[in-house]
Amino acid sequence: MLQTLFLLSFAILCSALGDLGYGKLFSTSFGYPGVNASYDYVIIGGGTAGLTLATRLALNGTYSVAVVEAGSFYELDNGNYSQYPSGVIRSTDPGPNLSAVNGLIDWRFLTTPQTGLLNRTVHYARGKCLGGSSGRNYLLYQRATVGFFDEWAKEVGDASYEWQSVLPYYQKSAHYTPGNTTTRAANSSRGTVDETAVFAKNDGPLQVSLPKYAASWSSYFPSAFSELGLPQLEGTNSGILNGWTYMTMSEDPTYQTRSSSETSYLKLALERTSLTVYTHALVNRIMFDDTKTARGVLVDVAGMKFMLNATKEVIVSAGAFQSPQLLMVSGIGPASTLKGLDIPVISNLSGVGQNMWDNPRLTLSLEVNLETGTTLTNQPERALEETEKYIVNRTGMLTSTGADFAGFVKLTNDSRSNFSTETRSSLAETFPPDWPEAEFFASSNGVAGLAHNGAGIFIGLLATFSRGSVTIKSADMADAPVIDPAWLTDKHDQEIAVTAFKYARRLANTTSLRKVIVGEEVVPGPAVQSDAQILEYLKNTTVTYYHASSTCKMGMRNDSMAVVDKDGKVFGVKNLRVVDVSALPLLPPGQPQGTVYMLAEKIADKILEEA
Ligand SMILES: Cc1cc2nc3c(=O)[nH]c(=O)nc-3n(C[C@H](O)[C@H](O)[C@H](O)COP(=O)(O)OP(=O)(O)OC[C@H]3O[C@@H](n4cnc5c(N)ncnc54)[C@H](O)[C@@H]3O)c2cc1C
Ligand SMILES: *[C@@H]1O[C@H](CO)[C@@H](O)[C@H](O)[C@H]1NC(C)=O
Ligand SMILES: *[C@@H]1O[C@H](CO)[C@@H](O)[C@H](O)[C@H]1NC(C)=O
Ligand SMILES: *[C@@H]1O[C@H](CO)[C@@H](O)[C@H](O)[C@H]1NC(C)=O
Ligand SMILES: *[C@@H]1O[C@H](CO)[C@@H](O)[C@H](O)[C@H]1NC(C)=O
Ligand SMILES: *[C@@H]1O[C@H](CO)[C@@H](O)[C@H](O)[C@H]1NC(C)=O
Ligand SMILES: *[C@@H]1O[C@H](CO)[C@@H](O)[C@H](O)[C@H]1NC(C)=O
Ligand SMILES: *[C@@H]1O[C@H](CO)[C@@H](O)[C@H](O)[C@H]1NC(C)=O
Ligand SMILES: *[C@@H]1O[C@H](CO)[C@@H](O)[C@H](O)[C@H]1NC(C)=O
Ligand SMILES: *[C@@H]1O[C@H](CO)[C@@H](O)[C@H](O)[C@H]1NC(C)=O
Ligand SMILES: *[C@@H]1O[C@H](CO)[C@@H](O)[C@H](O)[C@H]1NC(C)=O
Ligand SMILES: *[C@@H]1O[C@H](CO)[C@@H](O)[C@H](O)[C@H]1NC(C)=O
Ligand SMILES: *[C@@H]1O[C@H](CO)[C@@H](O)[C@H](O)[C@H]1NC(C)=O
Repeated sequence: MLQTLFLLSFAILCSALGDLGYGKLFSTSFGYPGVNASYDYVIIGGGTAGLTLATRLALNGTYSVAVVEAGSFYELDNGNYSQYPSGVIRSTDPGPNLSAVNGLIDWRFLTTPQTGLLNRTVHYARGKCLGGSSGRNYLLYQRATVGFFDEWAKEVGDASYEWQSVLPYYQKSAHYTPGNTTTRAANSSRGTVDETAVFAKNDGPLQVSLPKYAASWSSYFPSAFSELGLPQLEGTNSGILNGWTYMTMSEDPTYQTRSSSETSYLKLALERTSLTVYTHALVNRIMFDDTKTARGVLVDVAGMKFMLNATKEVIVSAGAFQSPQLLMVSGIGPASTLKGLDIPVISNLSGVGQNMWDNPRLTLSLEVNLETGTTLTNQPERALEETEKYIVNRTGMLTSTGADFAGFVKLTNDSRSNFSTETRSSLAETFPPDWPEAEFFASSNGVAGLAHNGAGIFIGLLATFSRGSVTIKSADMADAPVIDPAWLTDKHDQEIAVTAFKYARRLANTTSLRKVIVGEEVVPGPAVQSDAQILEYLKNTTVTYYHASSTCKMGMRNDSMAVVDKDGKVFGVKNLRVVDVSALPLLPPGQPQGTVYMLAEKIADKILEEA
């Protein structure tokens, strides 16, 4: 019965994808739930890293590979909202109300009450689908900085993490198409910026491009940032992040649909390999033998339990929250936590679930005399016009998420930043000089409750000191992990937040932006003036950029917080790796997905070398 359902849904999927110009997909390789089986490699999680690894291992042609994913195809479970870029705003509500969140494609996690945020609880979106969070995210694609990778190399004692050596793996994952100047407004082109050179061979599966529509609001930011002295960037993919630019997106340049690890890597694997994919399949535990060697995983599909053996390796790619959770329920983690839940300790690693980094997101909201993304939610007739334009010509507002332009700012280099000596020196000691403290996005998606033409500035804090954690409340993977990001709990972060917010206000008060802003600042409004008032406002409204990382951090054996070595191998056991955003030793400044694909490519090579 279940198998029939899978085949049926796959047929629907093929026709749905066909409508989007996909051509033919083959469905020869879906695993049979309930049947014990054995593979060389079993990968847990068909997300961003998981499908990248699975595809590369399978493409080698020598090994049998299975990927086990708790969700299914987002094209089926979330209709076209996950495919056309502007649809993303419909299901990522960060408020505590989960009714608006589709549980078929999202894990519906809530954080613990956040002491740094007036005890608020926040929905933390995570993809539960093939593609994982690459099927859920805002499409922003970029690379980290040269200095970031110097730190990474130092943390793990391995020069192969320096910029020059990771660059080929960034390149291997992606295919870049420059912005199309005939379909973007003339005043919204990237000028002479062309990143073709930093994409080199340019033959990777993931599509990286610019949407065919640029938000009107964004077009006022180049001159606004210039007024504040910020230079233009030659894109975001050459290791330098101090300046402004239109962002590259993980988006198909022709069909203007989301490019995820599912539409890119998995599609390739389905066409060319015998990769086996288990969907709706929750991994409950990793199994070890007496020699602490990982031998396989226990899987549950709608109550049918079975075992998949791994003759070579088990690879955990379950993301920032569930990779540490799965290690813990399987006996790898802080002994005190495991003992409290009667889980036998296989490897006592204090760092599992600790050291969580994230980028808090702050907002300044305005009304402008331009058409913005609020049109799509508030003006049904215009929304219909734009939808038709998209369906017929693949142009218009639906091709963009509405947050397409960013400035990366080293606030400590800005003479008007009023940092305390202590915070200034802590920042200088902790972060390399090319690591911006904040990113400012032109957001065309408006203000809740405002009738139309809402716009704003989203601020991401990129150099944070607060570290959160993930732990477990039971030995059952069906129970949500306990997620405490601890946003804004560190005094430095509070000061950086206030300083960044004031920078956003200066941006809103440039001649360039004032031209189009109507009336006074909408939220928080001019009554909020002192640093204390600003901080109170920020605590009351800060949410996340969804960049949780480093909860199974990579490091050297003598680092008590390290969970995996430079190749993703888990300390204290054999045949087990963690490869995903949780393995990053540090969170890259800006958006992490490009770096997650890079890491998966790098370690896939390593695994094949060692096989
Ligand atoms: C709303 C949102 C917006 C974002 N915006 C951006 C952006 O614009 N740009 C950017 O660069 N980054 C963005 N990110 C972050 C980025 O998408 C993630 O950092 C990245 O995708 C994480 O990849 P991963 O492989 O670590 O995990 P994921 O891609 O989340 O994959 C984990 C997979 O494991 C599966 N899984 C978990 N537990 C189990 C289990 N027990 N059994 C079986 N399967 C399991 C999950 O269902 C999921 O498919 C955003 C994220 C979100 C959620
Ligand atoms: C999986 O491994 C177990 C233990 O080694 C073995 O008994 C079982 O036969 C294996 N299953 C398959 C399908 O190979
Ligand atoms: C498989 O991987 C090995 C080791 O990296 C490599 O030597 C071999 O060429 C690969 N085969 C294919 C078909 O890519
Ligand atoms: C999305 O799907 C809905 C329902 O099938 C349809 O009405 C709408 O036009 C579609 N939108 C796009 C952009 O394809
Ligand atoms: C939660 O959201 C739903 C649907 O969006 C709405 O009907 C409900 O009133 C909301 N609940 C609260 C407590 O805000
Ligand atoms: C948050 O909760 C803690 C513990 O319950 C309490 O001590 C504190 O006063 C609360 N803070 C606010 C702002 O409500
Ligand atoms: C730009 O888009 C137009 C209209 O869709 C198309 O005709 C043209 O070929 C595209 N140009 C490039 C360089 O892709
Ligand atoms: C750029 O062009 C768009 C579309 O024509 C327009 O809405 C916007 O106001 C223009 N921006 C500037 C800075 O003139
Ligand atoms: C599959 O493996 C599990 C766990 O080892 C075992 O309990 C079950 O009987 C096996 N099922 C079949 C059909 O062999
Ligand atoms: C686990 O490791 C921690 C920190 O390294 C140590 O303090 C603790 O005693 C260890 N516990 C056990 C049971 O080995
Ligand atoms: C699609 O593009 C053509 C050519 O530019 C134009 O004539 C037509 O009106 C467009 N259709 C829609 C629905 O926007
Ligand atoms: C905005 O900038 C002008 C100078 O251009 C200055 O006089 C004014 O005080 C600023 N307003 C705010 C609210 O900072
Ligand atoms: C927080 O924001 C809500 C509106 O979202 C408001 O009602 C409340 O008074 C604010 N609280 C504080 C402490 O600013």
